[in-house]
Amino acid sequence: MDKFVIKGGNLLKGVVEISGSKNAALPILSSTLLTNEKCVIKGVPYLRDVETLCLILKELGVKIERKSNGDIETQVIDERNSIARYELVKTMRASVCVLGPLISKRKYAKVSLPGGCVIGVRPIDLHEKGLRLLGAQIDYEHGYLIANTKGLVGCEMYLGGTFGSTVTGTANVLMAACLAKGRTVIENAACEPEVQDLVIFLTKMGAKIKGIGTHRLEIEGVKSLKCATHKIIPDRIEAGTFIAAGALSGKGITIKNCRLDHLSAVIDNYNQMGVTIEKTSATTCRVKHARVLKPLDITTLSYPGFPTDMQAQTMVLLTLADGISIVTERIYPDRFTHVAELNRMGARIRKEGSTAVIEGRSQLWGAPVMASDLRASAALVLAGLVASGTTEVQRVYHIDRGYEKIEEKLNSLGADINRLSDKVAMPIRLSASPTTTKESMMRHTTRHLPRQ
Ligand code: EPU
Repeated sequence: MDKFVIKGGNLLKGVVEISGSKNAALPILSSTLLTNEKCVIKGVPYLRDVETLCLILKELGVKIERKSNGDIETQVIDERNSIARYELVKTMRASVCVLGPLISKRKYAKVSLPGGCVIGVRPIDLHEKGLRLLGAQIDYEHGYLIANTKGLVGCEMYLGGTFGSTVTGTANVLMAACLAKGRTVIENAACEPEVQDLVIFLTKMGAKIKGIGTHRLEIEGVKSLKCATHKIIPDRIEAGTFIAAGALSGKGITIKNCRLDHLSAVIDNYNQMGVTIEKTSATTCRVKHARVLKPLDITTLSYPGFPTDMQAQTMVLLTLADGISIVTERIYPDRFTHVAELNRMGARIRKEGSTAVIEGRSQLWGAPVMASDLRASAALVLAGLVASGTTEVQRVYHIDRGYEKIEEKLNSLGADINRLSDKVAMPIRLSASPTTTKESMMRHTTRHLPRQ
């Protein structure tokens, strides 16, 4: 397992480009199961989660090719296997996105239940509810969900639970409804930009969907879907994470390929903290750090509210704010694995149920810390950038699931992050000792820029 060794204190400056959205790419790639024609998806990030989904799709009979320009070309060539295996699904919950397309197109799906997750229980009862209402019979056997149907039929449904709407649940029901007979209405649909991007792609494929960007989606089923080409939207959470980096430690960083209209709640809260985010073009912004960060009271909510996927990263800023902040998690009440690790770096955070109370202080110090989920890992990296001394973030495979080349991008802005294999005891520089192993040299991908 790799780890990051981060020397804190460098000021960040320069330009960084945001990759395509992971959470848009995963359902969109899954939706290509709905047609036998060729689809081209552009701007798909190079991430472990994307690789996992491609492996699942290959097993489901999809020919997948990653072109030299990064485009992914998909075409279903064999529909005999409709089983998504535990060994692959267990590594990524979003694998459940193949369920809707499979039951709709092939009338059968056997998908492993994803199992536990550090950010909470994460049930899929709403996915199941929606698909049952469309006419799927659903059974559970030996850790698998098995769905059968003689043909889905559209209906009106309310798709909400204790924690509100569901993003991948909406995606699953939406994809299934595209080929169902008649009209489906999803009330309380998720309207996250990633769901909107899926609606755009499905519409290009010939689906008939009304209500994009709202909590009410109306789908008129069609007999078949066709080929389509689509460019994935920029990853709003990666952009938000770089805004947080610039806000923490920036001489001024410019973020390219970023949709500020997808980040209104983040921008509003960062402005309240005293961070300047200046829109310099439709897809570019410039972030300047605040001399003094002001405390915040934030609650995570579904879109357009403050995203849970930016909660951990924002908490790092609040540990350095001038006063007491409150962060309440309304999407995943247990998504606080970063709290104990940040406290090891000198933060003062007290957790009370699904709320964290953060007493700001003037400095964090470097420490060995353990990443346990994707966004918590990003938070620990951000903390390492501003902490005094060296921070070791272990188990960075979590971050590789969702951030493309994060250490290279941060190093290009002036950070000092080394990726090391855990087998290597000390940070290795390419020009260093003759004991440097071949493996560690190959893994050492970072560039060292002069401190500013
Ligand atoms: N929920 C249910 N029943 C369900 C589905 C969800 O009770 O059947 C609950 C969840 O437990 C949670 C809430 O509803 O409390 C929202 O969950 P949702 O289904 O919206 O989450 P998801 O679709 O599994 C996506 C993202 C997550 C992101 C959430 C919330 C993808 C692949 N994943 O998950 O992204 O946090 O929406 O916005 O789109 C990440 O990228 O780090 C990540 C975890």
